[in-house]
Amino acid sequence: MSDTLTIDEIIRAPLNEGLLGISEVIRETREVLNRLAQSDITVLIGGESGTGKDIAARLLHKKSPRYGRPFIKVNCPAIPETFLESELFGYEKGAFTGARNSKPGRLELANNGTIFLDEIAETSYIVQGKLLQVLDGEPLMRIGGVSPIPVNVRVIAATNISLEEAVQKELMREDLFFRLSEVIVRMPPLRDRREDIPLLAEHFNYNYSERLGRAYQPIGTALVSQMASLDWVGNVRELGACVKKYVATGDPRALLGEAEEEGPVSSRVDTIPPSPVAAPAAAPETPKKTLSLKQATQKAVEETERALIEEALRNTLWNRRKAAKLLDISYSSLLRRIDAYKIGK
Ligand SMILES: Nc1ncnc2c1ncn2[C@@H]1O[C@H](COP(=O)(O)OP(=O)(O)OP(=O)(O)O)[C@@H](O)[C@H]1O
Ligand SMILES: [Mg+2]
Repeated sequence: MSDTLTIDEIIRAPLNEGLLGISEVIRETREVLNRLAQSDITVLIGGESGTGKDIAARLLHKKSPRYGRPFIKVNCPAIPETFLESELFGYEKGAFTGARNSKPGRLELANNGTIFLDEIAETSYIVQGKLLQVLDGEPLMRIGGVSPIPVNVRVIAATNISLEEAVQKELMREDLFFRLSEVIVRMPPLRDRREDIPLLAEHFNYNYSERLGRAYQPIGTALVSQMASLDWVGNVRELGACVKKYVATGDPRALLGEAEEEGPVSSRVDTIPPSPVAAPAAAPETPKKTLSLKQATQKAVEETERALIEEALRNTLWNRRKAAKLLDISYSSLLRRIDAYKIGK
């Protein structure tokens, strides 16, 4: 996409659509993706968090002959392990307690389109085995089903951990690993393509200025070159979050990840309505008399958990891996909690 765009068009491109950048490595990645989009080959997208794996998966679908048909993303760790199999493969009425009606799985819903399995290494061996069968062209079987259902679906998977490591730690079946390793596209970290930093910074600056109703003013060259020297461990996501904060607060230190959490830093601050996420967490409600001790404890635990998660996410600029580390919980359990508490929604 952006090989034919001018610098100005790249800056003004809508958020979350293209894999923007002018560096050699991102151009090559785009080319590889364009080529792979033409076939039905299974692609595994690797790379650190925030490098654009989601965008790459969407591009593979958008540039493929399957465009216009469903694109279904499954965020594997966000679905409790016990539900993932039925979510993917569907079930027949009466297959298990609670299965009052039959339900198609997401693989079936993606028929003639593409399914994107995000964080594939965080699935159980059972699910991995069944996925392998689908990848090998076998018809799928709903849980409790008797007739096989033929599906024509292109599979794209992503992971931000090394699959070799996942196999070693026995998190990943070796046969699925070999099947998925046929074509791997590795998304480059931002520190390996620093020439893209100024352009991406302006792209976010333009878009967030528009969104927040501010006049767009390019970031000064001195600041931009300082930004280009940073390592951006959270990659493009972290860069975007820093620029967003800068646009919202007017504090140039935000661009270097150095802004204070609170305190007026510029005249712009007073005009911004307080964001619901940034608002100080409300004091836990005193449990009403009607709650049992167990319920009250549960409620207090949930409120505390929610506040701690929100704080960790703010402090890591929504880098969920870093936040999970900070909270000393697994990445998948953080994702489940974000989902359960509807944080950021
Ligand atoms: N090359 C790029 N051009 C423009 N925006 C990008 C680019 N790469 C990433 N982004 C933006 O950065 C954010 C993170 O990207 P994305 O969600 O695709 O990363 P990811 O690799 O899937 O991360 P995770 O492993 O955490 O799921 C998104 O808002 C995305 O739009
Ligand atoms: Mg992703």
